[in-house]
Amino acid sequence: MKILIVGNGGREHAIAWKLSHSPQVQQIFCTPGNGGTATQAKCQNIPIPVTDFPALKQLIADQNISLVVVGPEVPLALGITDYLKQPNLKIFGPIKAGAILEASKSWAKDFMAEANIPTAKSATFTNAETAKEYITEIPIVVKADGLAAGKGVTVATTIEMAHNAIDAIFQGEFDENHQSVVIEEFLIGQEISVLALTDGLTIRPLLPAQDHKAVGEGDTGPNTGGMGAYTPTPIISPELMADIQRKVLEPTLTNLQKRGIDYRGVVYAGLMISPTGEPKVLEFNCRFGDPETQPILSLLETPLEELLLACCEQRLAELPPINWKSGVAVSVVLASAGYPEAYEKGKVISGIEKAEATGATIFHAGTKLHTQNLITDGGRVLGVTAVGANFIEAKVKAYAAVDCIKFEGIYYRRDIGSRVFGNSEFINPQ
Ligand code: AMP
Ligand code: GLY
Repeated sequence: MKILIVGNGGREHAIAWKLSHSPQVQQIFCTPGNGGTATQAKCQNIPIPVTDFPALKQLIADQNISLVVVGPEVPLALGITDYLKQPNLKIFGPIKAGAILEASKSWAKDFMAEANIPTAKSATFTNAETAKEYITEIPIVVKADGLAAGKGVTVATTIEMAHNAIDAIFQGEFDENHQSVVIEEFLIGQEISVLALTDGLTIRPLLPAQDHKAVGEGDTGPNTGGMGAYTPTPIISPELMADIQRKVLEPTLTNLQKRGIDYRGVVYAGLMISPTGEPKVLEFNCRFGDPETQPILSLLETPLEELLLACCEQRLAELPPINWKSGVAVSVVLASAGYPEAYEKGKVISGIEKAEATGATIFHAGTKLHTQNLITDGGRVLGVTAVGANFIEAKVKAYAAVDCIKFEGIYYRRDIGSRVFGNSEFINPQ
């Protein structure tokens, strides 16, 4: 089987890595891919941007590709699945009408209200002044309605901060098409990521994960795409998972069906679990999470292509239960100094082989090969991922591998996983 993976992040490297281990998979094309997929077994990078649909279609025809896996949300929201559709081609990732679950927060809020899916109270405004008048208490959450690469949400702790966030959205800071803002009740609790596979008929969760979104230790500072993740998270008991299936995942699928949306791909529910154990949806994503996919696929034993094809061919209900390695996987993101704001690129990366020799898997995100060197090429550079028999073991192994890697301006959080054991549980890599 020949596969095309669209995207260039750590998530896409993890997907390529997992697929490359399967005897069924002959060749993998990554468009555009990164420095990791460039050297991954069976993989080849082709420099086609994720939104150049005609060039992707041509590549699929030229190479006789039979499965396309779409990594990021932007091409999904632009309708890549609709565009590439043709007989005998399987495309993992929802059609445009389904990707709106992530692409419009106001749409997702209406969808949740209709299906009685638990979520924060909210209101949507198309005018800055009315939005500001609505805010009477803090903290409050201000969300740009459309895609904003994880940067469109402000948890405002003062009224002024909320007003500034609203102004920024209407002044087009994220996207000049952002015509509306969602103002949402602030929720407290533990944030978790439940990624589920669906073929439009059945929905099956993967292992629950937790992601550290804030750039700074102690979950401080601005939000990023994610600075580290681990799975399974001990805060999700089997009972809570069953509750999430019943209150969130099943009603999501049922409402997609009711709206006539044939959704085949990942439904990613970002959830806040209240101190009393009630799940509420913070957001939906229409794709695998990044960096959650790195630890999740590190524990997956079932061949990934079997799951992806079952989703595309509406056979998910026929598959046996998904097999997982026992233990825990932890992934620590190594970023470029300055991320999520401005950062420099082109720094030479060393120590990957030494890090791999510890037994960890190094997923590349913002890297590229330049002459003989591997250099930084993005904000999130690498995802150092280790599997251990328990949480502590996985975390110690991951940080031991992190210690081996060097590049100018390297930045990472030393407290990935601290929520599991409390904030005193810092690992000092020195
Ligand atoms: P979102 O893109 O909607 O998931 O928001 C990005 C991040 O903002 C989330 O991962 C949470 O950390 C935070 N957040 C979003 N909505 C809320 C909320 N209602 N209450 C508290 N924090 C939130
Ligand atoms: N890690 C958060 C995301 O993938 O959206």
